[in-house]
Amino acid sequence: MKGVLLAGGLGSRLLPMTRVTNKHLLPVYDRPMIYFPLQQLVHAGIRDILVVTGGDHAGDFLKLLRNGHDFGLGHLRYAYQEGEGGIAEALGLAEHFAAGEPLAVILGDNIFQDSLAEPIARFRDDPDGAKILLKEVHDPERFGVATVEGDQVTRIVEKPARPESRLAVTGCYLYDPRVFEVIRELEPSGRGELEITDVNNRYVEWGALRHHVVSGWWADAGTVGSLHRATGLVAADRENPVLTDLGIDGGTDRAQPPAGTH
Ligand code: DAU
Repeated sequence: MKGVLLAGGLGSRLLPMTRVTNKHLLPVYDRPMIYFPLQQLVHAGIRDILVVTGGDHAGDFLKLLRNGHDFGLGHLRYAYQEGEGGIAEALGLAEHFAAGEPLAVILGDNIFQDSLAEPIARFRDDPDGAKILLKEVHDPERFGVATVEGDQVTRIVEKPARPESRLAVTGCYLYDPRVFEVIRELEPSGRGELEITDVNNRYVEWGALRHHVVSGWWADAGTVGSLHRATGLVAADRENPVLTDLGIDGGTDRAQPPAGTH
């Protein structure tokens, strides 16, 4: 199973900070935002990871993450999204990388308190269809919202004015290789993007979408308010290895001063 970390888009909801850098490089308490979803993939045992980014500051991702050694990885791969045609467009760039394997996809602004290793491992053991991770929230209208009947997701609506439930679709998605066929057939939405919600609804139509409700808190850090909230949640949870360990073997300790300094 391979991992895809999506960190494209313009981050316009975080202007003016994102005028001079990419949203995913902004700090969340003690480290850049993108560290958290990358740590999640590594904690779930995924070693082959593609980072999709875009915009004017894409080179800064290489400077920051380099070959992934700080996360215990042997290498990292990168792809460049021209424009911001949506999450599904960014994922489409991973087709060659995926090479027919199932994928764990995570959005670069999503921070989960608990490890995702278990739901990812269960999908890895039975990688048919797709699986989404849900979380009950008090402001579902900001997200994709899932309606669950019995034990099935029956539909997902992107940012509904009147949500049918409080179950937000988080930014972690698990897919079999058919996802790229689905993406090829998508039409841009009203906001001009290829929507990940349309991808997931296609799996609903096929009766092939499973779901898992995450425990622990979940934050997307894509707005000023949610970035502030995420920073507070991370700061208050410093004993949590999912948030603090860099990788499989701990990587390099960020608290160490650079060699030669005291
Ligand atoms: O955070 C979960 C939510 O993420 C889901 O509930 C929604 O269904 C899903 O559409 C998405 O909503 P957002 O409005 O928060 O998406 P946003 O445009 O902020 O993009 C989230 C991440 O996706 C962003 O941090 C990087 C990646 N992305 C986004 C776009 C638009 C790309 O890589 N390329 C893109 O073109």
